[in-house]
Amino acid sequence: MNTIDWFEKLTHTLETYQQNNNIDPHRLQFHLMPAVGLLNDPNGLIRYKGAYHVFFQWHPFGTVHGPKCWGHCTSQDLVYWQEHLPSLVPSEWYERDGCFSGSAVEVDGNMVLFYSGNVEHENGMLETYQCMAVSHNGFDFEKKGPVILLPEGYTSHFRDPKVWKRDGVWYMVVGAQTFYQEGAVVLFASSDLKEWELKGILAGNRLNGLMNFGYMWECPDFFELDGKDILIVSPQGLEAKETFYHNEFQSGYFVGKWKVGTTEFPHSEFIELDRGFDFYAPQTFQDNHGRRIMLGWMGITDEQEPHQPTIEKGWVHALTIPREIELRNNRIIQKPVQELQKLREAKGFHCQTSIENETKTLPELAGIVSEINIHFHQNLADTVKIEIRKNLSIIYVQHMKRLTLERKRFIDGKVESRSCFLDKLEDLHFFLDTSSIELFVNGGEEVFTARFFAEAEDVDVFFTTDGHVDVTLEKWNLRNPKEL
Ligand code: FRU
Repeated sequence: MNTIDWFEKLTHTLETYQQNNNIDPHRLQFHLMPAVGLLNDPNGLIRYKGAYHVFFQWHPFGTVHGPKCWGHCTSQDLVYWQEHLPSLVPSEWYERDGCFSGSAVEVDGNMVLFYSGNVEHENGMLETYQCMAVSHNGFDFEKKGPVILLPEGYTSHFRDPKVWKRDGVWYMVVGAQTFYQEGAVVLFASSDLKEWELKGILAGNRLNGLMNFGYMWECPDFFELDGKDILIVSPQGLEAKETFYHNEFQSGYFVGKWKVGTTEFPHSEFIELDRGFDFYAPQTFQDNHGRRIMLGWMGITDEQEPHQPTIEKGWVHALTIPREIELRNNRIIQKPVQELQKLREAKGFHCQTSIENETKTLPELAGIVSEINIHFHQNLADTVKIEIRKNLSIIYVQHMKRLTLERKRFIDGKVESRSCFLDKLEDLHFFLDTSSIELFVNGGEEVFTARFFAEAEDVDVFFTTDGHVDVTLEKWNLRNPKEL
């Protein structure tokens, strides 16, 4: 479709949506999400000319994975987001079936985007092109077309370029599948962003002891953090083991030390970034305060995706809140960016209390758009359970050192769970936004992200223990950023 027709169709789609705009209790308030259609990966995260820019994979014309454009939002403070027209729409031959994921850099005052042009043939064959687009203002982009063609040795599952500069040289990592059907991250280098030299595989199966580690690696991100080099990647095809890899696809990272300019990257084991149900394809960027900020797709492609209840309202999925990441003992710690405190209503709730062998309803904790912090001073109970809106439970079992998040499946309402091992429960800090939870455990050592779909009237939080527990409870109702 040409650009003019595409935008006409978008206008028509949005108008129809506004006319039918009925009450939708599951729409989120402080998360990024489009009015209609399907959102997936965050793309092109960058601080540029005094604003935060977030682009995202968006198919506005249906709640399925159709040809994606790049949706676009900006913010001054990572809290209130302004929506803009999509910046890349699939109009050219090399991106006919989608302007797929990618990244942004600033060069001489211009914003330069790299993304994957996706072409799908009826027989299922794919073509992939790593493309470039340039803008003087961050809003109007001139497409420069493909800068990298599919190299030999890889299938056409080759996409999601992430570009950065180190010691005066531009580098790009691309998510790939080798001809052996194994996932990998491929490194390129360039002096001018147009001519790219293939360096080889930076990480993947058969390297650094990795075997049977996925048939495709999507959405790589590579950056320095506290003196180490971190490779984030979203592998597909990992088998579940212990508490790990229970979702259809995973996202996680390797910590290592890169011999700059080469493909030498000795690294740690893969560490999963999120232990919940709905987190995939995260991307990071560094802002003007030097913080490394990450957003992820608060969703995933799995058998439950077509059963998300918002589909009947014409939309599906959202991005996570922005999270600042740091490295502690070679592990990533995630914290909600502090700007989110602006959302707190002036009067919060704060108390110290004990719960002993009982189930307590805590009316002060009830609500659907809120931030809750539970700090455990003393936990003599074997089991602590916090039930939220009759839909979610957070359970810590001391003798197993195991923390679990349960929710009701979208398909049939049965309970499903995700867990991680935790030596000691110190605090549970979570954000509820009508149909999402982001739970930061022990200061962000572990994070659980999930969507859930409770009845509007179920607003309570129950606290159950089978022993003596002393806690500090804090809670804020959160305001809608549009009303700040
Ligand atoms: C990850 C992903 C990317 C691709 C994009 C398409 O969710 O599959 O690899 O570029 O989504 O929307």
